[in-house]
Amino acid sequence: QRSLLGLKELDKEEIVSILDRAAYWEAQPEKVNGVLNGKFVANMFFENSTRTRFSFEVAEKRLGAEVLNFSAAVSSVQKGESIYDTVRTLESMGIDAGVIRLKPIGVLADIATKIKVPLINAGDGNNEHPTQALLDLYTMRKQFGELRGLNVSIIGDVMHSRVARSNLWALKKLGANVKFCAPANMTAPELDVEHIAIDEALKADVVMMLRVQLERHEGGIIKSAEDYRTQYGLTVERAKRMAPHAIIMHPAPINRGVEIDDELVECPQSRIFPQMQNGVPIRMAVIERALS
Ligand code: CP
Repeated sequence: QRSLLGLKELDKEEIVSILDRAAYWEAQPEKVNGVLNGKFVANMFFENSTRTRFSFEVAEKRLGAEVLNFSAAVSSVQKGESIYDTVRTLESMGIDAGVIRLKPIGVLADIATKIKVPLINAGDGNNEHPTQALLDLYTMRKQFGELRGLNVSIIGDVMHSRVARSNLWALKKLGANVKFCAPANMTAPELDVEHIAIDEALKADVVMMLRVQLERHEGGIIKSAEDYRTQYGLTVERAKRMAPHAIIMHPAPINRGVEIDDELVECPQSRIFPQMQNGVPIRMAVIERALS
């Protein structure tokens, strides 16, 4: 039984094995498989989610597991119950694994030392979002066949982005060249990664745009949406300067017309909706790994 708290500590071989297993699940013709029959998985979201929450639920159901969906907004968290007590409560009821999203950093790692069932990080603060990065790697591998030597630009609000961090750790292990591009007040200087200008960032094989995370900004970090778009957005004009073989990615949800123009979201170079599709086999592989 194995938790997945982040990709920083995960071996390259383990990452490749999850990607390979996801490819196996994607190729299966039947929609539901009973490998996790009789297992109970709880999805515990202390922060909002659409993609991660529902693709975990689809993945769990496709593996035949029983699914419990916990939502902090309608739970005893509203009466002051702690995250630890919530997870411990579900463990005592007999869940076999837990998927957790939460805001504070460090809490998940601490809970994992006190809980016996495997825990999967569905995003914790700006620390890690391992399954998002795994589905991103899977999407890139499907496109290019090989991650070694691939040039990946991650553009936008890297300071607040757990997606940028998990992608950085994993892509570096697999031999890709990762660079960040961010406004001066949204950089991540504590990370060992080169920050480059937007014109340089557009030359990459993968142009990954990040959402401006207004809910994590204290005070007015951006002047206006239009000002951000002008300086750091992937506009139709900027996209014309990308290489013809390059792809556009974004973890979503998307601020259309801010970090990416509306016309580009489903353009031929975009892999944004395929990323969401790839999230299901990746999460099947991760849940199976936790419970097998
Ligand atoms: N990409 C992602 O984590 O989306 P959600 O917040 O909707 O889960």
